[in-house]
Amino acid sequence: MKQRMIEKFEEIYGKGGEVSVYFAPGRANLIGEHTDYNGGHIFACTLTVGTYAAARRRPDNRFRFCSLNYPESGVLDRAGDELDYREEDDWGNYPKGVIRTFIAKGYPIDGGLDLLYYGEIPKGLGIGSSASINVATGLILRDLMGLENVTKVDIALFSALAEGEYMKNGGGILDPFTVAMGKKDHAILLDTSDFSYSYAPLDLPHEKVIITNSGKAREGLVERTLERRRECDQALRELQRVIAINNLCELTAEVFEQVQEMIKSPVRVRRARHVVTENQRTRQAVEAMKRGDIREFGQLMNASHLSLKEDHEVSCEELDVLVEEAWELEGVIGSRMMGAGYGGCTISIVDEDSVSEFIEKVGTNYTRRTGRRAEFYVVETGDGAMRL
Ligand code: GLA
Repeated sequence: MKQRMIEKFEEIYGKGGEVSVYFAPGRANLIGEHTDYNGGHIFACTLTVGTYAAARRRPDNRFRFCSLNYPESGVLDRAGDELDYREEDDWGNYPKGVIRTFIAKGYPIDGGLDLLYYGEIPKGLGIGSSASINVATGLILRDLMGLENVTKVDIALFSALAEGEYMKNGGGILDPFTVAMGKKDHAILLDTSDFSYSYAPLDLPHEKVIITNSGKAREGLVERTLERRRECDQALRELQRVIAINNLCELTAEVFEQVQEMIKSPVRVRRARHVVTENQRTRQAVEAMKRGDIREFGQLMNASHLSLKEDHEVSCEELDVLVEEAWELEGVIGSRMMGAGYGGCTISIVDEDSVSEFIEKVGTNYTRRTGRRAEFYVVETGDGAMRL
């Protein structure tokens, strides 16, 4: 793939000078959903599929962007002081946003870049395709602009800012952190309140992780995600009248029960309850994984789905059908919707002997009940973003 990226790069931008190639993977979030904007925990792993990016320095201050996924769009050409968000720049806003964020942080970006991207992850699946573009771009800036003191954690934070502040799309730290820091055969436990993290072996000797694409587009994703953020912020402010907390995830479920009456709307009580209980489930799930108790891990995934559906209200009929059909099968350890919601994917842990049955039965029943066709991906874990 490295060679192919270099060949394509030289076809588009011409030969001369060293072309560097990078890879940033997609991610699967095992548990810890809608906690990352509430100072909570997430437990996620990196995939083997992702985005490739090739880059070469330019002596002037222009940045040129091209994607093999959108050949019809050609090359987007912008000067270093013309990197503001523009709707017509479409996907190019992602890498532009990362460069802009580095500049805003005061890093000396001296010169320009030619950039070529190729993403293997279908857009809109909710498995981190935009974070993989951002993190790859961040690594390129660090290496090619000689910013040696920039860490991978910085790159994750800047990538999150590029989504949250530049694109204003409600994207948080879950995706970029996992994409930047992931490790093969492991999952990362990240505490989003202080960005401390640790790895736990993804100990699934007889099980497979399956991502199922519902084929349902995530309608109104940005508006709905921003609405959830506002609801959680407001619930936090209401609770802060009686309890000194910096974020919702500082509460245990027990304490939440005692103070929840401070929240003046039943909708916000449900949102906050999801966040608090999901954070607790995530910590319990990691402990269960460490003990090798995969059954308990699965039960917590199932409870996560119900909470996302009933309290956070970010599921949809298609995701519910996929999860319900999965729960019917003996070989399913756990199954839940994954990511922001409203469409996109589910994640399931399935006994390895039951994988074919899972694909066949969930697939058939899903089509019967919704008229749609599901796609199944048996996941392999891989390492986080890197130079090839
Ligand atoms: C979206 C955001 C993430 C996270 C998830 C929900 O995917 O980009 O940061 O908030 O929703 O867990």
